[in-house]
Amino acid sequence: MQKVIAIDGPSASGKGTIAARVAHALGWDYLDSGALYRLTALHAQNQQVAWQDEQAVADLAAHLPVAFSGSQILLAGNDVSQSIRSEQIGMGASAIAALPLVRQALLQRQRDFLGERGLVADGRDMGSVVFPQAALKIFLTATPQIRAERRAKQLNIATQSPEFERILADIMARDENDRRRSVAPLRQLPDARLLDTTHLTIEQAVQQVLDWFQSLCSSD
Ligand code: DC
Repeated sequence: MQKVIAIDGPSASGKGTIAARVAHALGWDYLDSGALYRLTALHAQNQQVAWQDEQAVADLAAHLPVAFSGSQILLAGNDVSQSIRSEQIGMGASAIAALPLVRQALLQRQRDFLGERGLVADGRDMGSVVFPQAALKIFLTATPQIRAERRAKQLNIATQSPEFERILADIMARDENDRRRSVAPLRQLPDARLLDTTHLTIEQAVQQVLDWFQSLCSSD
C-alpha cells in the first residue's frame, strides 16, 4: 500500500481544490497531474511543435523546464500559473494526453512527487496507472452543468451568456475526449469510491475524503 490518496475525475469537478485541501489537512504533498499535461501542451505551442506530433511532444514532456514554487508554476523561467488554465490549453492538454508516448514520458515524473510525507494526487489515471497501490482511491464528479457553473463563477461569467454555453460545451467535449481515448481513459475503477460533489460544498467534500481516510487508518 502506498501513502497516497488518488483522486480522479473529469475536468472542473473540484478535484484540484479538494485534493490540495486534503493534502494540507494531512500535512502531505500535493500533485496536480493535469498541470503537467497543460504545461506540456503550452511548451509545445511555444516551441511551435504540433500537438499531434507524438514523438516531438513526448521529447518535450521528458525534459519539461518546469519549477514549482509555492503556488507559482514556472516554465522556462516564466510564470505560467494563469496561462496554463485557459480553455485553449485545456483542449491541448486533452489532445496530447491521448498520446501513449507522452503519458509514458510523464509517468516517472509524477511518481517522483511521492516522498516521505505522503501524497494526494489528482488527475485521470492516478488510481489506475500512476499509483495503483494508493491507500485510498476516489472518483470525484459532478454534473456537467454544475461544473460549468463553478468554472463560470471563477471567471466571473454570467450563466445566461454565450460564453457560458461555450464553457459547458468545452467541458462536455473534454469529458468525451478523456473517456474515449484508448490509453488510460477516464473511468471509475472498481476499487475507487464515488464522491459526487453536485450537492456538496468544498468543505463537505474535503471532510468526506478525510473521514474515509480516517476509517481506513482505524481499521488497520
Ligand atoms: O485536470 P485538468 O483539467 O487540469 O487536466 C487537463 C487535461 O490533461 C485533461 O483534459 C486530461 C489530461 N490529464 C490526463 O490525461 N491525465 C491526468 N492524470 C491528468 C490530466
